[in-house]
Amino acid sequence: MAEDMLAVQEQEGVMTVTLNRPKAMNALNFDLLRALDARIRDIRFRTDVRVVIIAGAGEKAFCAGADLKERAGMTHAQVKEYIYTIRNLFTEIENLNKPVIAAVNGVALGGGTELALACDIRIAADTASMGLTETRLAIIPGAGGTQRLPRLIGRAKAKELIFTGRRVDAREALDLGLVNQVCPPNGLMSCCNKMAEEILEAGPIALEQAKYAINKGLETDITTGLSIESNAYWITIPTQDRLEGLAAFREKRKPVYKGQ
Ligand code: COA
Repeated sequence: MAEDMLAVQEQEGVMTVTLNRPKAMNALNFDLLRALDARIRDIRFRTDVRVVIIAGAGEKAFCAGADLKERAGMTHAQVKEYIYTIRNLFTEIENLNKPVIAAVNGVALGGGTELALACDIRIAADTASMGLTETRLAIIPGAGGTQRLPRLIGRAKAKELIFTGRRVDAREALDLGLVNQVCPPNGLMSCCNKMAEEILEAGPIALEQAKYAINKGLETDITTGLSIESNAYWITIPTQDRLEGLAAFREKRKPVYKGQ
């Protein structure tokens, strides 16, 4: 069953979605892509889910990218459909209206690194390794990697990594700014949950608007970016949460935000 390929756990506003094909290094076959796609669409409208963590099952892999065994049996048209599906899915993740953390618990290659790149924050186990290895298979990163990697780490380093297909370990990934943080493998999920808990203290509408302003504003000139920021700010002004933030400050208590 496609759904079994995803393990889902929910706890107090945090949904952890785990790619669950550990025997295949959590490689993304069509069924897993479809299951993840359905899950992401569901999360968008779940007001009780405020932070998402994407992880890989097992200790070895976050995700080994496209399922190369499935790929070998595909027609050209099916490969095109796969690439169209994965690229749109990762864009949905990038545009999701809540923060997404990638828990990179092991190898993240090809589409695995591209999935992590579509997330807002990447936290890696110190045993993790990442890379856009596609050119070694005589193809190119097709799920946003040629666009998101240079935007994140700069075009020169991105070209080096994409042209050589070299894998980087967690320490180098941290130095490059490819990951936000590195933790011991057995502490990875608690690092991610700690980050999620900090994010949960913020107002959900503020988070949605801040993410929107950063993502959309960075893709344009600063004048347009500042206009996007301005409009995003206006959306927060009439919210109950904004008044709750001010009241909580005045009353010296923690705010209770409802996303309203
Ligand atoms: N697609 C399908 N199956 C994959 C896979 C992938 N992308 N990556 C790993 N697997 C499978 C292996 O075929 C193997 O299955 P088997 O036991 O039935 O033979 C199993 O996962 C374990 O992989 P294995 O290669 O034995 O483990 P390893 O620790 O020696 O190496 C990797 C792990 C991920 C480094 C290696 O499998 C690899 O390079 N995979 C390809 C990654 C890649 O190029 N991804 C980009 C795709 S565009």
